[in-house]
Amino acid sequence: MADYDFDVLVIGSGPGGYVAAIRAAQLGLKTACAESRATLGGTCLNVGCIPSKALLHASELFSEAQTGALAKLGVKIEGLSLDLETMHGQRKDAVKQLTGGVEYLFKKNKIEWLKGHATFTGADTVTVGDRSVRAKNIIVATGSSVTPLPGVAIDQERIVDSTGALELPEVPSHLVVIGGGVIGLELGSVWRRVGAKVTVVEYLDQILPGMDGEVRKEANKIFKKQGLEFKLGTKVTKAERNGDSVTLTVEPAAGGAAETIEASHVLVAIGRRANTEGLDLDKAGLALNARGQIETDHDFATSVPGIWAIGDVIPGPMLAHKAEDEGIAVAENIAGLTGIVNHDVIPSVVYTSPEIAGVGLTEEQAKERGAVKVGKFPMLANSRAKTNHEPDGFVKVIADAASDRVLGVWAIASVAGTMIAQAAQAMELGASSEDIAYTCHAHPTHSEAMKEAAMAVLGKPIHI
Ligand code: FAD
Ligand code: NAI
Repeated sequence: MADYDFDVLVIGSGPGGYVAAIRAAQLGLKTACAESRATLGGTCLNVGCIPSKALLHASELFSEAQTGALAKLGVKIEGLSLDLETMHGQRKDAVKQLTGGVEYLFKKNKIEWLKGHATFTGADTVTVGDRSVRAKNIIVATGSSVTPLPGVAIDQERIVDSTGALELPEVPSHLVVIGGGVIGLELGSVWRRVGAKVTVVEYLDQILPGMDGEVRKEANKIFKKQGLEFKLGTKVTKAERNGDSVTLTVEPAAGGAAETIEASHVLVAIGRRANTEGLDLDKAGLALNARGQIETDHDFATSVPGIWAIGDVIPGPMLAHKAEDEGIAVAENIAGLTGIVNHDVIPSVVYTSPEIAGVGLTEEQAKERGAVKVGKFPMLANSRAKTNHEPDGFVKVIADAASDRVLGVWAIASVAGTMIAQAAQAMELGASSEDIAYTCHAHPTHSEAMKEAAMAVLGKPIHI
C-alpha cells in the first residue's frame, strides 16, 4: 500500500460505482470515488430511474383522477387541475434526498469523493482536477449517455433527450418520441397522462425490442388504448426547429416516400452508449470493443491487471440493478472473495401502467434452444386485479419441456415489477414450474397469477 493513495479508486458514482465503493470500504479497503457531477448517484439517481419514477407515479395519480378511474370507485374530485411545478418539485425532492443519501453513506463508510473528471495517466494513475492519485485497483463505472441521432440536434428545449424530457416546464401539445423502447414508453406515458398528444416513431415493426414477442404485442395494444399513437417500421431522417415547433421528416424503415410530422417537442430515445470519452484509456493500455464498451472477464477484470469495469460501460443490459450487483461482485473479487453475478437472471421492468416485466429467456429464445412448455394466466381472472379494476395483462411462465426448469417469466400487470422478484428468485434457485405452482401464495394478491401461470404449465390452472 506504501506507494498507493488508495486500495480502490472507483470512477463514477452511479449505482455501479457507489455500490462498489461502499462494498470495498465495508471490506476494509481504503477507497475513493471520482465523480464529475455536482451530486453523487450517477444517471440513475440524478436523471434516470428516480426522477422518471417520481413523474410516473405523480402522473399516474393525475390520470386516475382525470380519466374518471377514481370516480368509478366513488372518489369524486371536482375542480381537478395539474400543478406541474409541484409535480416537478416532488421529483427534484426525491432526487435531492436520494443523492444526499449516497453522500451520507460515503461519509459513513469513509469513502473520499474526488470531485471532478477522472483521466488515466497510466495503468494505476488517474488525474482528477489538479490532483493525481495512484490506486492499486481502479474500477471504471462511468456509465452511459444518450445515443445521438444524426440529423436531429438536441437543444434541450424543443428537441430533448431523457434529461430534457424530465424537465419540460410545460405540457407539450404534441410530443413525438423517437424510439419505442423503455425511455420512450415511460416518458411518453408521463406526458400523455398529463395531456400531451404523443406519437412514438419506432424503427422496428414492434416496440420494446428484447422482450417476449407476445408481451410486446399486448403492450402495444394497451398503450394504444391509453391514447399513445405509434408509427412502427418508421425512421426519422431529419428534425428542423422553427420557433416553437419542430418539423420531423420520417420515412418507412424499409424504404419509401418521406412524410413530415409537426411536433411541439421531440424526445430522442434511441438507446444509450458507453461513457469512455475523455478517460484516456489508451494511457492505461485499455482498448474498447467494436461497440465502444470495455470488455471484462467473469470477475469484471479488464485486460489490464488492476483495472476493473462494471455497469453500463461494459456489455449487457443497461440497468441499475445489474450495475449494483456487479459493483458488489467486483469489490468482493478485489478483496479476494468470490463475487458472482448471474447474468442469465437479470429482471427488467418497464414502469408504465400496467408495468411490464420479464426475467430469463423469451418464448422465442427458449424455443430456439429446445422444447418448452408454456403456461399463461390472464390478470382478468386474478381476483385482486379484478377487484382493483386492473384487467389488462397476463403472466407467462416458460419451462423446459423435459426437466420443467423455469427458463423465463414475463408479466404485464399493475405491479409486475414487484411480482417479477419471485420469478428471479425461483430461477436463481433452479426452480421448476411445479415448485412455483406448489408454493403457497397469499390471497388475494396479484402474485397468485404467477402461481396460476405455473399451474398452467402443468395443465391445471384453477381459475380459468
Ligand atoms: P451511471 O449511473 O451512468 O453513472 C456513471 C457516473 O460516472 C455519472 O454520474 C458520470 O457523471 C460519472 N462519470 C463518467 N465519466 C466520468 C469521469 N471520467 N470522471 C468522473 N466521473 C465520471 N435502470 C433501471 O434499472 N431502472 C430504471 O427504472 C431505470 N430508469 C432509467 C430512466 C432513464 C431516463 C435513464 C436515462 C436510465 C434509466 N435506467 C434505469 C438505467 C440506469 O440509469 C443505468 O443502467 C445505471 O445508471 C447505470 O449505472 P452505472 O453506475 O453504470 O452508470
Ligand atoms: P432502448 O434500447 O430501450 O430503445 C430504443 C428504441 O429506439 C428501440 O426500440 C430501437 O429499435 C429504436 N430506434 C433506434 N434507432 C431508431 C431510429 N433511428 N428511429 C426510430 N427508432 C429507433 O433505449 P432507450 O429507451 O433509449 O433506453 C436506454 C437504456 O436505458 C435501455 O437500455 C434501458 O435498459 C435503460 N432504461 C431502463 C429503464 C427501466 O429499467 N425501467 C427505464 C429507462 C431506461
